[in-house]
Order: sequence, then C-alpha cells, then structure tokens
Amino acid sequence: MTRHLLITGGAGFIAGNLVHHWVASHPGDRVVVLDALTYAGNQATIAPLVNAGRITFVHGDIADRPLVDAVLAQHGITHVAHLAAESHVDRSISGPGAFLATNVQGTFTLLEAFRARWQEQGAPDAWRFLHVSTDEVFGSLGPSDPPFNEATAYDPRSPYSASKASSDHLARAWHHTYGLPVLVSNCSNNYGPYHFPEKLIPLTLINILLGRSIPVYGDGANVRDWLFVEDHCRALERILLAGSPGSTYCIGGNNEVANLDLVHQLCDLMDELAPELPQRPSRELIRFVADRPGHDRRYAIDASHIRNELGWEPQVSVTEGLRRTVAWYLANRSWWQPLLSDEYANYLETQYVTQLN
Ligand code: NAD
Ligand code: DAU
Repeated sequence: MTRHLLITGGAGFIAGNLVHHWVASHPGDRVVVLDALTYAGNQATIAPLVNAGRITFVHGDIADRPLVDAVLAQHGITHVAHLAAESHVDRSISGPGAFLATNVQGTFTLLEAFRARWQEQGAPDAWRFLHVSTDEVFGSLGPSDPPFNEATAYDPRSPYSASKASSDHLARAWHHTYGLPVLVSNCSNNYGPYHFPEKLIPLTLINILLGRSIPVYGDGANVRDWLFVEDHCRALERILLAGSPGSTYCIGGNNEVANLDLVHQLCDLMDELAPELPQRPSRELIRFVADRPGHDRRYAIDASHIRNELGWEPQVSVTEGLRRTVAWYLANRSWWQPLLSDEYANYLETQYVTQLN
C-alpha cells in the first residue's frame, strides 16, 4: 500500500527532521506538509525536498477546517503525523492564547476532519493518526521519583503543557468514542539539526558563536532527558507503522542531564570544534538569570513499553549527539543566521529583562 502521509508542522524542528527521515526511508510514499510558517517554521529546512518535487508543501493553519478538508481529499491522505504546535514554554507564559488556538483548537480540527474523511471512505483499517506530544503533560519529578511512563497521571503545570494535555485527551477520546485509529506519543526533550534558537541547546551554541552571554535559569540544576531528534523520528516511524491504535508510547533518551552540566558540555565542545570564537573559554559567558515561573524541576522517561512492543531503542548517545549537533550548527550558519531577525532579538531581550527584574 502506498501511504499518503500528512506531516503537520513540517517546517519546524522535529517534523522537519521527520520529513527528511521519511522521504529517505520510504521513497514510495507520498508526503504532504501542512505548516502555517509561524516564527518557528523555516521553509529552508525542507526546501530541497520541495524543489526536487519529493514532497508537497501547503502553507496554512491546521485550525482552518475547509483547508484541512481540501488537503485530506486532494492528496488522498491515509496517515497523519501531527506535530504542528506552539512548542516553547517561555512563550506560553508570556502569550498563552496562540497555544490554545493551535494546540487545542488546531488538534480538534484535524481530528474532526480526519474522522469525517475516514468514515466517508468506509473506516479503512490501515489508516492512522499519530498525535505527537510531550513528557511535560506529566508534571515535574522529584530527585528520587521513578521516571514517567504510560500509566503516569497527567499533571500539566505550564500553559504549554496544559494545552498539550488537552490535545492528548482529545486524541484519545476520538479513538474511544469514534474508533478512529489514533496513536499518541509523549517524548522527552529533543535536540539536533534544524532546532530553532530559542531552545536551550541551539540558543547556547549561537550565543557562544556571537560572543553573547548564555542565560541559565535559576540554579541550573533542573534536569531534562535528552533525545537526539533522529532517534525520535525512528520511534515515530515505528509507531506509525506498527503501533496498536488507541495506544500511547513514551519515548525518552535515557539521558538525564542537569542544565548547567549540559551547558558546560556545549561550551567545551565549542571551544574544541569552533575555529575562531569571540570569547574563550566559552564557560565565561554563562550567566545565572532569574528562574522561569513554575519551572518544572525534572523530567525523565521510562521507554520500556516502546522498546518491548516495537523494538525501538535510542541509537545515539548524548556525547555523540551533542558533537553532531555542534558540528551541524557550525556548518549551517546559512540556516540559522537569517532567523536572528529584529523580532528574535526583541524577543530575547524582553525575555531576559523580564527574567532579571
Ligand atoms: P517547532 O516549534 O520547532 O515547530 C512547530 C511547527 O509548527 C512550525 O513549523 C510552525 O510553523 C508550525 N505551526 C505552528 N502553528 C501552526 C498552525 N496553527 N498550523 C500549522 N502549522 C503550525 O516544534 P518542535 O519543537 O519541533 O515540536 C514539534 C511537536 O513535538 C510539538 O507538537 C511539540 O509539542 C512536540 N514535542 C516537542 C519536543 C521538543 O523537545 N522540541 C519534545 C516532545 C514533544
Ligand atoms: O520535555 C519536552 C519539551 O522540551 C517539549 O515539549 C517542548 O516543546 C520543548 O521546548 C522542551 O521544553 P523545555 O522547556 O524543557 O525546553 P527549553 O529548551 O526551553 O529549556 C530546557 C531547559 O533549559 C529548561 O529547564 C529551561 C532551561 N533554560 C532554557 C532556556 C531557553 C535555560 O536555563 N536557559 C535558557 O535560555
């Protein structure tokens, strides 16, 4: 069967990587990207595939029902990998409205449009809707708590995680109520190529390259479980191809690192790999700034369910993944330099002024 796969948010970080992965691994499938090109969407990420006619790009909003209906019908979509979202926690604190519009209303619109099309086509068994979510829906762990798994109760604590939790509930409800073949994944922090430089890792790398300070929130002891984005894409591929409809899969890197330790590793890698840095050693650029309001202390994932059921395991260690990420940002200045617009500079400035006050 030729799959006709719609990837929402395909000009963004994870979905952009997924587009590249899917086209390389399944050349017989048709891939369509639907993306609104918000500040976080970058057409350069997928332009070579669009220009080569390997994928179709549609510019638009997932909350636009007539548009979504048309995309599903015109491209005969059989599979959806839904990743379009407002994804940055800090932005959800300063402006939560867009998070509800896209993450909740947008997901609802996609589910309804896909359900209508699926029912109209006789509820084909092979169709799938994969809703990609986050470990942040589970709340925050203490230092000796066991990692999150599929049975962990929801406890979202930021506007971002609350909006993602809402969309997870909608996705599961559409399976239970209508029988729609929905799958849900909850993943830990990703890193790697094409990551927008508002997030900790690319922000740190680019600030080092520009000789700017590196802001570390609070005491720098918050812990995240880092997963190389290509490993996440392989997990999403396994879930779409072999996951059981109605199931949830937790995905993690088994790589818990405190933020300050991570920033130190990035500084040391940059000192080693970057030929000419404005300031060396890079660690001297680190500045402790006021904490993110409601900052979750620790996330960690127990990924044994996806390992046991689908045979997925991360293949890239954090040492290798960080080295590859640093090398990518050094080699791809033409990808990130245009993102450093006035809007971006203003955003950063407001962030840190707010944080320091
Ligand atoms: P991102 O911010 O890099 O990209 C989001 C993309 O969605 C952008 O291209 C943007 O233009 C597009 N978009 C936003 N609103 C839209 C709308 N209304 N209609 C159409 N397109 C729209 O996001 P990311 O970090 O790659 O995250 C992708 C998904 O994975 C999100 O659902 C996020 O919650 C989830 N997730 C992310 C991480 C992570 O570490 N980044 C971890 C776990 C889960
Ligand atoms: O856990 C999965 C989540 O990971 C995803 O659902 C989100 O979409 C994604 O943005 C990410 O959320 P985080 O808030 O964990 O990522 P961020 O890169 O913003 O921050 C990582 C950690 O670093 C967090 O503890 C806050 C801290 N931080 C962040 C920035 C941007 C800093 O100390 N300084 C910074 O400048």
